[in-house]
Amino acid sequence: MEFNEPRAPSVLMVCLGNICRSPLAEAALRHHAAKRGLDIVVDSAGTGDWHIGHSPDPRAQDVALRLGGINIASLQARQVSPEDFHRYDHIVAMDAANLRHLTATMPADSRAKLSLLLDHLPGSAGESVADPYYGDADDFEACWRQVDAASAKLAETL
Ligand code: 4NP
Repeated sequence: MEFNEPRAPSVLMVCLGNICRSPLAEAALRHHAAKRGLDIVVDSAGTGDWHIGHSPDPRAQDVALRLGGINIASLQARQVSPEDFHRYDHIVAMDAANLRHLTATMPADSRAKLSLLLDHLPGSAGESVADPYYGDADDFEACWRQVDAASAKLAETL
């Protein structure tokens, strides 16, 4: 019989551009896991390729620092890759369109379990985190509060 070393749970947060919602969710989950003394692997990616290599939107950077005290300036956008389905335990989509894209591209032998971020927030299952990209500072604040609350709950269950 093989002995399997316990392994840190791994989570990939996914949105469309990987410059607004998923970097915020990545930062929030990392923060809540650290607060609980939980060893986890967290990353984020986008289903689209427009912003590969870009740092998070300045408005996302601002809200993470202002409301969460977290500097996300050094994060760099990347696109979801086929290997992600084998590397991560959980791939967590910010909205229904992201989830549809992931479901359609998921290999049959995927290790990753797919969910929506708000499935992890009691009372909000099935709901999407609204895309704040074409919105204003208030939309980024609402986005942060939602991803922060859901990530706190997700950290409890990992
Ligand atoms: P995100 O927001 O998916 O939360 O990173 C967006 C960022 C960029 C675009 C769309 C959404 N875009 O169309 O470039």
